Amino acid sequence: MLAAVILVCLATVLTVILLFAASIFRKRRPGEPPVVAGSLLWGSAADFSRHAVNFLHKCRSVYGDVFTLRLVNQYITIVMDPHSIEALSKERNFDFDPIQKQVNWNVFNFSLVEPKKMIKDTGRTVRGTYMKRGMTSYVDNLNMACDDMHPDNNNVTEEWAAEGLRDFAAKTIFDALFNSIFGRQQSSATFSSQKVYENFEVFHEYFNYLWLGVPKKCFPAAMKALGGLLAQPSADQLLAADDTCDYIKNAIDYMRLHGQSDSDIKGHNLVYLHVNYNTFRLAFWAINHVLEDPKAHEALVAELREAVDAKVDSDNLATFTARDVEDLKILDSVVQETCRLASGVFMVRYITKDTQFEDSNGKTHLMRQGDRVAIYPPAIHKDPEIFDEPTVFKYDRFIDATFYKNGKELRNPVIAFGTLCPGKRYALLQLKWYLLTAFTRFDLRLQPGAKAEYDYRYHGHEVLPPVDDVNIDYRPRSEFARLDFASE
Ligand code: HEM
Repeated sequence: MLAAVILVCLATVLTVILLFAASIFRKRRPGEPPVVAGSLLWGSAADFSRHAVNFLHKCRSVYGDVFTLRLVNQYITIVMDPHSIEALSKERNFDFDPIQKQVNWNVFNFSLVEPKKMIKDTGRTVRGTYMKRGMTSYVDNLNMACDDMHPDNNNVTEEWAAEGLRDFAAKTIFDALFNSIFGRQQSSATFSSQKVYENFEVFHEYFNYLWLGVPKKCFPAAMKALGGLLAQPSADQLLAADDTCDYIKNAIDYMRLHGQSDSDIKGHNLVYLHVNYNTFRLAFWAINHVLEDPKAHEALVAELREAVDAKVDSDNLATFTARDVEDLKILDSVVQETCRLASGVFMVRYITKDTQFEDSNGKTHLMRQGDRVAIYPPAIHKDPEIFDEPTVFKYDRFIDATFYKNGKELRNPVIAFGTLCPGKRYALLQLKWYLLTAFTRFDLRLQPGAKAEYDYRYHGHEVLPPVDDVNIDYRPRSEFARLDFASE
């Protein structure tokens, strides 16, 4: 018996070694992109994780716009040309599903039956009339969260209060997002916005290891945090509540129809919360960058306060439609510039068949079945040919501006949402609404010496977090109009 076990173990180890050796020594075929020279064992993984953007820019100068990296035993072809994004995104043999499956299974413990149909179906619930309903709930929750930030039960004082900016954003925008998704939960409940925020902080530290397939059991802290994140109301409770959002209700109905378990449903709810966490991270960076630059602060506050003054009625209510908010030019530029700098996303597709991929210059590249192909938006966002002084936050960079690469205008210079995200407009509107609310209800300033830095270890997350929180002072304004959302 023991001999048989030893034999099986040896055979498994040998198979892994052979597969790994085969991946290291595989031959490049004619027409395939050049493979970047890297370490024998882990290929380019260490260079990539050290500073992905600098590394990819260096690779481009040596190998051109299309090249292949080996990350341990995984080959991934990077397309650096931003004009080729649409062709890549439309190619039928480049599939997002296996990537999504990997994240859902490895990180959130579930898989979806018919994910494409489901995403098409649930994607509707963040657009059109649904989006308007969602916004109304979000705006109400945000107003309540901001009321709670007024010290002394809404008696406005002249005093500044101190807070970490991340904590401030967690108590305001994240609280509003959370309560508009799950319906208002008691702040003392096991599943509350504050508890989820704390658990996400821990869980996200392990996100990159988890989606690459390192077993969760290796990270007891991640397991514990996940337990807290899954301590959600049951599917029946969520369906019965009036204020659960349409996206969650629709997804529950769909998943039940396809025989999925309550535990699958909780995993999927968590993914939705996770994508919304990105909006919270962007809010942190937008406020931080604006407060760091007095000119940006002055210009944005002037635009927002003027817009509110122009709308306020005799009941002290200022009512905005989605378009009203989207038409604010400085706000739009601040948000785009924030997305440009804070995005850490990797736009990856699985190659389902050997494919001759034609880039925007008409050159073809043979992409191998089983490899992955990717666009790395942060490398495009930091390209000095496209963006002057690419690491600097310029609040007005996107006002009536066009951007070029190789002399050709870019259709989408900022690709923080990839090409597939159905929630892009909704998330951007929520972020803009938050900034409109925060800068009109509060005076905000960074404490002296406060300096936030991007945590580049989190490259691969849709939005990067800061290394540490920064301290701000905030003071509720003595006069402010209450904001209301109107559906056109
Ligand atoms: C700031 C917030 C958000 C960011 C930065 C973000 C970013 C992204 C990115 C980068 C992708 C991959 C796209 C690609 O590879 O082409 C994606 C996919 C997706 N996002 Fe978002 N997202 C956000 C909010 C939302 C919201 C609010 C929803 C709500 C419906 C959502 C739903 C999805 C779905 C369902 C997919 C998968 C699409 C598919 O498989 O076809 N996201 N998102």
